[in-house]
Formats: sequence, C-alpha cells, structure tokens
Amino acid sequence: MQIDVFTLIPHAFSWMTEHRPLAAVLGAELDLRLWSYRDFTPLRAGQVDDEPYGGGAGMVLRVDVVHAALDAVYAGDWSDRRVVALTPQGRPLDQELVEELAAEERLTLLSARSEGFDERVARHLATDAVSIGPYVLSGGELPAMVVLDAVARRLPGALRAESGAVESFSAALEGGLEYPHFTRPPEFRGWRVPDVLLTGDHGRIEEWRREQSRTRSSGGGLVGAR
Ligand code: ADE
Repeated sequence: MQIDVFTLIPHAFSWMTEHRPLAAVLGAELDLRLWSYRDFTPLRAGQVDDEPYGGGAGMVLRVDVVHAALDAVYAGDWSDRRVVALTPQGRPLDQELVEELAAEERLTLLSARSEGFDERVARHLATDAVSIGPYVLSGGELPAMVVLDAVARRLPGALRAESGAVESFSAALEGGLEYPHFTRPPEFRGWRVPDVLLTGDHGRIEEWRREQSRTRSSGGGLVGAR
C-alpha cells in the first residue's frame, strides 16, 4: 500500500516511522511518502495560506496550493486514489472506515493547519473528508497520524504475531470494544487480577473475554474509578 501525507510539518511524522506498527511495514507492505505543501507552492516566499474571505481569525490553506502539490506529485492525475482531507466536519473515523481505507492500494492524507482548508479542497480535490472526533484541533497532523497508525496496524506484518491484536481486532470488527487485559503481578496493592484469567482454562477465559467485551460495548466503554 502507498500512503502519501501532505502537510506543513513533515518532520512531525518521523517518530512514527521508528516505532510499530509503521516501522514493521515500512519498505515492505507500506510505502509512506511525506510531502510539504511549501515545496510546491506557486506563491512567493513559500506562502501556503491566506486570510479568510469575510474576515475572521486564523489562516486558511489555499486551494491552489493544495492543487499544485497534488498536481506535481501525481503528474496531474490522482483519480486512482482515495484522497482524504482531515477536517472536523468530515465523516467520523471508526474501525469500519479504517478497514475501508486499509483496503486501498493508494491513499492520500491531506492535513491543514490553523483554520483548515479552503472549502474547495474538500469539495473538489478530495474524495473524502474525515474527522477523528467531535472536537477541533490546531491542525490535521495529529488526525493524519491517527489514520496512519490505525491503517498501518491493519497491514500484514504490522503487529507481533503473539500479540492479542487479531482477537482485539475481531472484537472491534463486531462493533465491540476490547476486553480488559491484565499481566503480572497477579496482585498489586490489593488489586487482584480476575481469578478466571489465572485458571489456564482457555474455554472459560474466552467466554469471560467475550462477556467483558459485550458489557463494555453496551456500557460506554472503560470508566476510571477515580
Ligand atoms: N483538524 C482539526 N480538528 C480535526 C479533527 N477533529 N479531525 C480531523 N481533522 C481535524
């Protein structure tokens, strides 16, 4: 799979390439390319954004700048790929959408800073607009990293074989949340690991996990006691 990220802060992504899941699939299942809008802007002095028409705070990433970057990288034709603009107004990201994106051969992530994109980017240049949640961040880099991580961990070889990722993923696919995990020590400050997990009885453990997953999924997920 090829993923291209367009951003004003390409180096922000470098840590991700050194850790799983990205590190495990880079150069094999994943060809990741990081592009800076600034390297392609047709405007003077590396300008990429502008004041919003009608006034208001913040700057808006220009449609001509985004177009110039796509045009240069894809030689005028990006009709063969999913182009995702990250914006709080987009389709909410969930595991179903992650699976959909992970199944693509070619994926492009467009991130913006400050007040976001000129609306024409989402309307005319992108195929999708995606939000990672109902809140507003200061830019699309974190959302792009979220999508990148979620998609990369679905690629073959991304996860350690012995990890529970396959199971936890199937729980997620069924629309459920993952069951709770515990590890050593079996007791810490009086907080005990559920007895069933110490029995070695895989049938009962499986049953318990399924039940926990169901309870979590219907009850709004994990809640802290404090
Ligand atoms: N850009 C700013 N906030 C965002 C969000 N919640 N999702 C996607 N892109 C964003």
